[in-house]
Amino acid sequence: MSLPVMRTVSELRATTAAWRREGASIGIVPTMGALHEGHLSLVRAALARTDRVIVTLFVNPKQFNSAADLAAYPRTEMDDAAKLAPLGAHVLYAPYGEEIYGPGFATTVSVGGVSEGLCGAHRPGHFDGVATVVTKLFLQGGADFAFFGEKDFQQLHVVRRLARDLDIPIEIVGCPTVRESDGLALSSRNARLSAAERRIAPKLAETLFDTAARLAEGAPLAATLGTARVALEAGGFDRVEYLELRDEATLAPVGQAERPARLLVAAWLGETRLIDNVKVTPVGLA
Ligand code: PAJ
Repeated sequence: MSLPVMRTVSELRATTAAWRREGASIGIVPTMGALHEGHLSLVRAALARTDRVIVTLFVNPKQFNSAADLAAYPRTEMDDAAKLAPLGAHVLYAPYGEEIYGPGFATTVSVGGVSEGLCGAHRPGHFDGVATVVTKLFLQGGADFAFFGEKDFQQLHVVRRLARDLDIPIEIVGCPTVRESDGLALSSRNARLSAAERRIAPKLAETLFDTAARLAEGAPLAATLGTARVALEAGGFDRVEYLELRDEATLAPVGQAERPARLLVAAWLGETRLIDNVKVTPVGLA
């Protein structure tokens, strides 16, 4: 099946206008490419829910914290298109840089509250970059539904907030994290792990699931999180950036797992920063 690749807003808008005239519903799946099964699961979810699916591919310079990280980001558009076509996605929107940040571009979308703390505290400007590009992609694509992974749980909250606050008529759909058979959450950054680091990496998910189970049974928060940090560092992680329990619905810090919550982590393995999160459902509520 062929997959049209579009580079400009005007091409994309002409296409979506025709879809609208047919009465079709439209889904959008924003990505930075280097597609893996996690991304493809979002595309499948979009195809199941909407009549037409736009997958976007744009490596957004505004959300990177270092030029080196941006330069090192994999760019594999041909392979990405080859993975998308057989699924039945309708358009790959891989815009020229100036279609997103044109001459004189001077606007930033900055979401307060949910973007503070966690990754927001450690990656200054990151969520402003995400919020700005996602707002543009929503306005350019004019979709009814947008599909995001729970893998980036704080990002999902930031996107929900901006759509609501800016009255963008789009429903944000969160999709479960896709994992390797050993539990490691799929990420384009996993390719940067050495063979030795790759053997250590599953310890992150394993520790999260264990810790979540203990918290769900009512284990005391501070001591349980302390034990988990020690386990990660003893297991080979170089530094745990954060390990926190937050409210599932609001992302506010919680002192004890008394309502549905999320346990979120970021940790460094050599030069690679891995993030993950799992749901914590208190036993009484399960
Ligand atoms: P990217 O890292 O390419 O991820 C695109 C989408 O795939 C995000 O919604 C992310 O949560 C989802 N995803 C990544 N790994 C996943 C996994 N293992 N299981 C399920 N979903 C997964 O996130 C971004 O790009 C950018 O910040 C973007 C939103 C495109 C804005 O530039």
